[in-house]
Amino acid sequence: MRNILIDCDPGHDDALAIIVALANKQKLNLLGVTTIGGNQTLAKVTKNAKNILSFLQADIPLAAGQSGPLVKPLKTAPEAHGDSGMDGPYFDGSDYPLSNMNGVDFLYKKMIESKENITLVALGPLTNLALLIKNHPEVKEKIECITLMGGGIDHGNQTALAEFNIYVDPEAAEIVFQSGLPIIMAGLDVTEKAEITVAEINSLQGKGKVSQLAYDLLSFYNKSGQQFGFINSPIHDLCAVAYLLEPDIFKGKLANIHVITDYSLARGLTYGDFRKIAAEPKNTLVLEEVDRQKFVELLIASLTYLDEKI
Ligand code: RIB
Ligand code: CA
Repeated sequence: MRNILIDCDPGHDDALAIIVALANKQKLNLLGVTTIGGNQTLAKVTKNAKNILSFLQADIPLAAGQSGPLVKPLKTAPEAHGDSGMDGPYFDGSDYPLSNMNGVDFLYKKMIESKENITLVALGPLTNLALLIKNHPEVKEKIECITLMGGGIDHGNQTALAEFNIYVDPEAAEIVFQSGLPIIMAGLDVTEKAEITVAEINSLQGKGKVSQLAYDLLSFYNKSGQQFGFINSPIHDLCAVAYLLEPDIFKGKLANIHVITDYSLARGLTYGDFRKIAAEPKNTLVLEEVDRQKFVELLIASLTYLDEKI
């Protein structure tokens, strides 16, 4: 059993990652969810997190984190996720309790309260995690590892060189990657291969409540992805959770990662030193390959399990 905390900016793919984490309680003990301004404003992504957790009848503490990045103003992604940040599904508006603590203080409290180590799962910009590490370096010894969706070694999606989560807050990302903590980086190199096909999306219809929610999420996300040239839908954030459940369906290489934080065209680029004798410790496992079939099977099995529960 692995203790985890999820920091996210729901976000269609964030929502699917939370769903799969909750469907695999025998392996993942989800201690809490925090939100970060990213795909949409903090208020909108927090509302989306409430909707997902309420829909799943979860009993998981939720706290809202930072509204934006450390230095520059927040740049949201309505073109990808819609005005709500999670367009597509209908939610009945049931409320869900929100902690009155800031997400960073919440993460800190969970870390010091726990007698066991905790894995941090980061699915959005890394501002909350950077502030946790900077403000409370003593928690590093309690962090089992950080598994994150972010970056890309040879390309980006927000710019030609930078992936969205990193581009929103490059300074925070540099703090996290250079923290010395063991990191699993699910960057675009692997997440763009972790795609679900239109036929697989359509197969989710009429199977059950949670599969239908996944259909509603993915059918919007698939249409939205077409403007960027995608035919199928990469479920980026799910890779960060899927690795914890089935690491053997992934392949990767160790590297030391720096993030470009200047204001050049390379801002937000994740630079990987993979050399045998790298200049600095290779603390990051950069995922490069995934067994797509097994990845989708994990999602569908998780949905089917929750269909029978909810
Ligand atoms: O680049 C993909 C990432 O940006 C995902 O985390 C998605 O949710 C958006 O936040
Ligand atoms: Ca996300």
